[in-house]
Amino acid sequence: MPGAIPLIDTPAAMRQAVGAARAAGRRIGFVPTMGALHAGHVSLVERAARECDDVAVSIFVNPTQFGPGEDFARYPRTLAADLALLAPHGVRWVYAPEAAAVYPPADATRIVVEGPARGFEGAIRPGHFSGVATVVCRLLLAVPADVAYFGAKDWQQTLVVRRMVRDLGLPISIVVCPTVREADGLAMSSRNAYLSAAERARATALNAALERAAAAWEAGADVAAIEAAMREPLLAAGVAIDYATVVDAESLASPTAGRSAVALVAGRLGTTRLIDNRALPPRSDGDG
Ligand code: PAF
Repeated sequence: MPGAIPLIDTPAAMRQAVGAARAAGRRIGFVPTMGALHAGHVSLVERAARECDDVAVSIFVNPTQFGPGEDFARYPRTLAADLALLAPHGVRWVYAPEAAAVYPPADATRIVVEGPARGFEGAIRPGHFSGVATVVCRLLLAVPADVAYFGAKDWQQTLVVRRMVRDLGLPISIVVCPTVREADGLAMSSRNAYLSAAERARATALNAALERAAAAWEAGADVAAIEAAMREPLLAAGVAIDYATVVDAESLASPTAGRSAVALVAGRLGTTRLIDNRALPPRSDGDG
């Protein structure tokens, strides 16, 4: 039986623990999360455990990345289950601060990333990426690890975090790990828990749209044709589409010849908003 994982709730205590381990020559991996952990998070923890001596996981539902009317209040908070899930995976510390430890009273500082934060999630969720960048920066200051691990499911988020780390010169490496999927292709997400049984069945349409995109991309289709192919399964499943398209994997601009691309999809099933993506290899003819 693995022992209980020490729970730390202040940045000072967390910095002290990680600092002491690093001073002893240990390599530290960090997995930032909002809890409601699933197999996707476990895959990040396992990768961190393979590549590092010690692993820290943060569990913090970050208020600043939710807009008005979004799901901050109902976001699942499942700390006991999260700790039980992490227990067999060799996690050394769980950092679970209260909001006031991350955002002290009268806090007035935010990080704004431009470039990759524009468009898509940044356009639909104004302020979201500022909240993400702000909390990730504060988490990285509290957990001064060697490497931090993020899931590729939030593709645009990984671009924003990488850019912030680069621009601010933060002394940490960022590793992006593959999306983990259910047997029927649905990307694992804490928000899948919101879906009714009927919505859950229809949610496979997002992955179907990405399969269509990959096939059309490989066949040399242009962006308009790929978008049309992606929309078919989404509309058939009653997904209210926010976007379904193919863009350059780094700049999120129109794809160009010889560069990697990514198919992005986002939509709503009832009150649940889901996003997913699929990396696409470079083509000699860009967007055709
Ligand atoms: O991807 C998430 O779970 C969150 O956006 C993150 C990176 C933990 C910041 O709150």
